[in-house]
Amino acid sequence: MGNKPRFSIPRYPRGWFQVAYSDEIKPGEVRPLKYFGVELVMFRTENGEVNVLDAFCPHMGAHLGHGGKVEGDGIVCPFHAWKFNGAGKCTHVPYAEHLPRKASITAWPVHEVNGVVMVWHDIEGKEPEWEIPTIPEWDNEAWTPYWRQHWKLRSHNQDMCENVVDKAHFRYVHGMNIVPQPHTIELEYPHIKMTTDTIYETRQGEVKGELDVEVHGFGFSVSRFRGIVETTNMASVTPIDDEFCDVRFSFTVKKLGGADITAGVGKAFTKEIARQLEEDAPIWENKTFLEQPMLCDGDGPVAQFRKWCKHFYPDWYHKQAQDEYDGLKEVSKPLTLAERRKRLVAA
Ligand code: FES
Ligand SMILES: [Fe+2]
Repeated sequence: MGNKPRFSIPRYPRGWFQVAYSDEIKPGEVRPLKYFGVELVMFRTENGEVNVLDAFCPHMGAHLGHGGKVEGDGIVCPFHAWKFNGAGKCTHVPYAEHLPRKASITAWPVHEVNGVVMVWHDIEGKEPEWEIPTIPEWDNEAWTPYWRQHWKLRSHNQDMCENVVDKAHFRYVHGMNIVPQPHTIELEYPHIKMTTDTIYETRQGEVKGELDVEVHGFGFSVSRFRGIVETTNMASVTPIDDEFCDVRFSFTVKKLGGADITAGVGKAFTKEIARQLEEDAPIWENKTFLEQPMLCDGDGPVAQFRKWCKHFYPDWYHKQAQDEYDGLKEVSKPLTLAERRKRLVAA
């Protein structure tokens, strides 16, 4: 019997999640990854297409991310040189006359956009239900290159996302004198859109402006601050395993007539946002998840948010998580995506 899970909600929601920056994987390169509790391999073909597969070769179990080599449009296993294409299909066995017909590996849908590599996760293996839009600030002469920050946090995607609608914490965790009052907030699966007036305190003084937040599922959001500077932060949260998530911030600032001051204020602003995340982190890493929080009238649309969250997990997955949490069922072991799906078919 494993340990009791920390959360009574499912660990791995449906959606698009960043697994790398585009420049971390060049043509012909192979990288081992671990996300969603699954060992994965990412490779970029010689033509430049990125693919992500479950890591273990169906022949005798070698990890393709450790010693696998890109050849043309596929990856060759380091153990006995079986070759798999980006769809996970075995296309060549150098010493066999007939290819084993069923030899294939689960391929994850990949979308490379805004300078990042994203994969689609769906516990039931369904096709992507929405797309991640191209951000106009990305690869745009008028904007600075991304300034990146990365954290590994012991938390859950849903708990971290709840921060967006949790109005009251801005004063008590982030010390903001004026709590942001959203003019508009829309929650419609898979998006949240919010606009709010806000004031950030930086070393250069107070910066007033408008903050626009777009959430695209639990993996990806874009925050745009429009004040005396224009700053955009693309934030991604990807579950690694049952404990940890990778959090990545990519900031860009609009260039203004070569004024260094603008860059200075922009940088100060980005530091402020990163500081806010570091203030949230100890709360997130140690809190418990209350299914029925005791809310009061000043709390913001937390109940509405919780309803929105339910769309990201199928009902049976909710039940499984709850049963594991209540100790009615053994905690599920880390499985490959293919094994999880097989178990589903059997259930
Ligand atoms: S284990 Fe991969 S080819 Fe044998
Ligand atoms: Fe926060």
